[in-house]
Amino acid sequence: MRPLSEKISSIPPSATIEITDRARRMKSEGIDVISLSIGEPDFETPKHITDACINALREGKTHYEASQGTLELREAISEKLRKDNGVDVDASGIVVACGAKNNIYEAMEACLNPGDEVIIIDPSWVSYEPAVRIAGGTPVHHSLNGKDFQIDDSLLEKVTGKTKMIVLNTPSNPTGSVLSKESLSIVADICRDNDIIALSDEIYEKLIYDKEHLSIGAMNDMAERTITINGFSKAYAMTGWRIGYAAASPEIAKAMTKVQQHTISHPATFAMWGALAALKGDQSCIKDMRVEFDRRRRYVCGELESMGFKTAPADGAFYAFVNINGDDMERGERWLEEAHLAATPGTAFNAPGWIRISYAAKMDTLKEAMRRIREFEDRRD
Ligand SMILES: Cc1ncc(COP(=O)(O)O)c(C=O)c1O
Repeated sequence: MRPLSEKISSIPPSATIEITDRARRMKSEGIDVISLSIGEPDFETPKHITDACINALREGKTHYEASQGTLELREAISEKLRKDNGVDVDASGIVVACGAKNNIYEAMEACLNPGDEVIIIDPSWVSYEPAVRIAGGTPVHHSLNGKDFQIDDSLLEKVTGKTKMIVLNTPSNPTGSVLSKESLSIVADICRDNDIIALSDEIYEKLIYDKEHLSIGAMNDMAERTITINGFSKAYAMTGWRIGYAAASPEIAKAMTKVQQHTISHPATFAMWGALAALKGDQSCIKDMRVEFDRRRRYVCGELESMGFKTAPADGAFYAFVNINGDDMERGERWLEEAHLAATPGTAFNAPGWIRISYAAKMDTLKEAMRRIREFEDRRD
């Protein structure tokens, strides 16, 4: 067989999925592994949402739909963005896709030409760089390590005549940090002055503990140059439903829809009716999950600090990002092999020296995980 795509061969597999699969394999061999490596809420999808989906199936909502997503769902998303985020995009600027990940790929395909540079703010979620590269763009990394995970003017040093897009993620996976108004203003100024698109991934928006979520798309003159990404996976524990959305200018939304028409067509019709029920229904389910995540966050961060670790500001999402002051790949390997605890080394997020621990797990599991880390670290050579 002739060689497969060089572009794809040069892209690493998803580190988070790889380590989780490895933990799963170890479990199937009878090893008692605790897996805190994946970003998935451990709660059930709320019943009123699954009921709406089941009803939709029974009512025959099982056929092709508008490729941007059902009008009802896009109108509800538009209303949500206006109300919660101050982002003013009507239904024609909304594209509903198979998860926020799918929207991010579509956004890159829609916007990038070969050689266009995309600034990725590190530590960064594992799929941004592959998305840029698959779309033919050139990733340029800018690290916030050592800057309290906030953006300062040094970001401008990464901007060239070829910069087409800056990718933001607040609250952040993996650090849990929430970008301040000052950070977002710096990005907005750079985007306006240099004709750059901001891709703002806000998937963890509803999981913020002490801080306030701000959307760059609501800032002056940013509506037309921002692609706001969000979805249902994290806020409503709907990871397997595969429903995400993007809000953008009509021109960008049209280009993204073209990508969608020629790839997925649209997400499952009945799943979109479930998503509509999520937005229209009682929002107290989000609060209940957030309260529980907050309890776990305080526990896990407190334990790690008492072991002498420094952690990034865990203001949002459901991750503790731990500075292990050493080789994260080696330590991650030893935690897995010797302490039987799977967590993701920071190298996967362009942040060597750190390890990401997901606290989206039951309290008993987290207690056992912390016990194992403490025991391992106490006797580590
Ligand atoms: C930062 C970030 N963006 C996007 C996604 C993708 O979410 P979805 O399940 O909607 O594709 C994830 C999932 O882990 C994520 O952590």
